[in-house]
Amino acid sequence: MKHIKHTVAAAAALFSLVGHAATITISCGSVGQDFEFCKKTTSEWAAKTGNEVKLFTVPNSTTDILALFRQMFAAKSSDLDVINVDVVWPGIIKDHLVDLKQYSGGAEKAHFPAIVANNTVNGKLLAMPWFTDAGLLYYRKDLLAKYGVSAPTTWEEMATAAKKIQDGERAAGNNDFQGFVFQAKAYEGLTCDAVEWISSYNGGNIVDDKGNITINNPGAVKALKTAASWIGTIAPQGVLNYAEEEARGVFQNGNAAFMRNWPYAWSLGNGKDSKVAGKIGVSALPKGGADGKHAATLGGWQLAVSKYSKNPEAAASLVMYMTSPEVQKERAIKGSYNPTIPALYKDKDVLAAAPFFGSLYDVFTNAVPRPSTATGLKYNEVSSAFWNATHDVLSGTATAENSLAKLEGKLKQIKRGKDW
Ligand code: GLC
Repeated sequence: MKHIKHTVAAAAALFSLVGHAATITISCGSVGQDFEFCKKTTSEWAAKTGNEVKLFTVPNSTTDILALFRQMFAAKSSDLDVINVDVVWPGIIKDHLVDLKQYSGGAEKAHFPAIVANNTVNGKLLAMPWFTDAGLLYYRKDLLAKYGVSAPTTWEEMATAAKKIQDGERAAGNNDFQGFVFQAKAYEGLTCDAVEWISSYNGGNIVDDKGNITINNPGAVKALKTAASWIGTIAPQGVLNYAEEEARGVFQNGNAAFMRNWPYAWSLGNGKDSKVAGKIGVSALPKGGADGKHAATLGGWQLAVSKYSKNPEAAASLVMYMTSPEVQKERAIKGSYNPTIPALYKDKDVLAAAPFFGSLYDVFTNAVPRPSTATGLKYNEVSSAFWNATHDVLSGTATAENSLAKLEGKLKQIKRGKDW
């Protein structure tokens, strides 16, 4: 509580230094409840400080948002003051963000050190942690009970259970029913899913911490072959064009037994528009066979101030308010957005709203990072080569062996030059 009061006081003090009312434009994301929460929190800050806030609508896909921001940065556009930053971007957009250390008053010390380190480039705190993410397995508790299967611990068990439930539900008349839905569209979300599969089969995460290309290995081949075997059997062909929201739509309509998604899907899945409220179980993603391990990709979003903002102090005050413990607590309870402040994982109101924040705490703290630090400015090129190579395997246009060998060659080309 003491800390919360300090943060609000710091935001107010910062505003009094600014001295005049400013109009701050912010982008907060547009997946699930992102926009509604953004509207609520930013208007609270506006009311407290006397400033005005405008919301800037961004596309759903992180890949498209990055492309848009890069264009705006290239034009040194001052249209955006505060931007939402994916956990894999600091190395890519580092030259366009303000160092927040001068405004934070040390508030970052209350957040997970690994995320703060991720957001710190050349000693500059480029973004404040806002919420963290890790891939999870969602399942229908009621259907697992109906078909007498237990929650799967390996991908093989998941596929068997998915097939059994899918066959049963289709025989009972629901021809739209799917065993498993996930993200397999060619974009950053597929990189996240595929890093999970590959890591779970002990195949590493594309590029290691030292920058070595590790992707062409038997674990990775096995993982991609396994995922390809799901398409058209337990997952619809259409999954090749699914992002997070498409998968959630199918699951929430009662048409899937299993879903891979981020924590935000919990709150909506139990919400008033969901047909499966109260029927959802959540677990760690399955292991890659008996010798594999549970692996969740680390995701998450930060808030940052654009270097081209005309009102950096007021923009920073908004960032500090939106990432504060009180706001993170409310978002955790009402939207199942994972806090970036460890203390909130012990908060009883938070745990009552999202019990898996406690039971799966290790999943969140041990999530597998994508190789964005090692590949720096080149991360997006690396990731896009990877998701395309994966998509080719899933859609049956290439074998896993050929696609990964080709990808290795491509990554070697990308690696030439100075930025990785
Ligand atoms: C979620 C994650 C983000 C990831 C994206 C992929 O928004 O938080 O890190 O890049 O999904 O679609």
